[in-house]
Amino acid sequence: MTETLDYADYVARPVTDGDRAPAAGLGERALRTLYDGPLLPYALLRHRLLLRRCRHTDRHTYTAFLRSPAQLRLLAGPVIDFLRPGGAGDDRLDIVLVACSNGAEAYTIASWLHRHRPELDFRIRASDLHPEMVARARAARYSAAEVLHGPFMTRAFLSDTFIEQGAEFVVRPEIRARVEVEQADLLDAERLRARFGPAPLVVAQNVLFHLPEPAAERAFAALTVLLAPRAALMVAGMNLDLRARLTAEAGLAPFAQDVRRIHQEGRAHTPPHWWRVPWGAEPYLPLRRDPVRRYATVYRAPLHDAETPTRGDAGI
Ligand SMILES: C[S@@+](CC[C@H](N)C(=O)[O-])C[C@H]1O[C@@H](n2cnc3c(N)ncnc32)[C@H](O)[C@@H]1O
Repeated sequence: MTETLDYADYVARPVTDGDRAPAAGLGERALRTLYDGPLLPYALLRHRLLLRRCRHTDRHTYTAFLRSPAQLRLLAGPVIDFLRPGGAGDDRLDIVLVACSNGAEAYTIASWLHRHRPELDFRIRASDLHPEMVARARAARYSAAEVLHGPFMTRAFLSDTFIEQGAEFVVRPEIRARVEVEQADLLDAERLRARFGPAPLVVAQNVLFHLPEPAAERAFAALTVLLAPRAALMVAGMNLDLRARLTAEAGLAPFAQDVRRIHQEGRAHTPPHWWRVPWGAEPYLPLRRDPVRRYATVYRAPLHDAETPTRGDAGI
């Protein structure tokens, strides 16, 4: 028996040419309209109760290639411009990515930066708690269902990222070479810092909502300690109230580009009845207090005194 809850029910979906997901079926759209519209107060209440009572597990490994194209555009544009205000620079950009599951997220980012920031020298240091996920990420070979089950897959991304070998999709050697994978526990702050810190870009996505709130708070603190003086944190997939509070307390400022779209793309991976699962998230509600901070997924660390803001810092 494996130690993780695997997603045997991944099913390949059609690939698109554009960057919008094909429309969902009528039934799914009707349910989403209902729960995100007239039944929203009920859904919000049920989700709050669920979060109070549910038992968390670190065994969920759901992931997807090209999980949020809008977030990748933000990363390859304003975030990299902020991290490299003088251009690509000579030194390598180290990206620390925890909770990498089967590696889909790490290879997605590697492929996207390779294509859209070809001048950038970067390396992704990926890790996961479970050795079996580390082994799968290192193998970098996937079934069609693992590659094609997400709603946003495009032909361009497929050819940039994979070589098809029989029934398998094998990550291209030039993309594979950008990613290292090892075992690491997000909750082991000291070891995390000794191995990965300080890093200009830290990615911890869709894992904190699987932890009980006190553990999520500890993990968040461990992540912020990893941040270099000029750094950004990508942190989709955690309790929204908690993220708003912890990012504000840490002095992190949200990148505002496409916040709404990125949030909605994240929700495309949960069922219409999002309130029934701990990893579900409310729809984008513009009347919430400080919606940009609440729904953002990428934040920049406060610049140290020695750092003067530059043109690359504008428009955040
Ligand atoms: C839902 S997957 C998210 C994968 C990927 N980050 C994404 O966004 O698609 C959550 C992953 O977090 C890992 N995980 C859970 N607890 C962890 C911990 N304490 N330290 C490191 N990884 C952990 C799980 O093994 C799983 O692979």
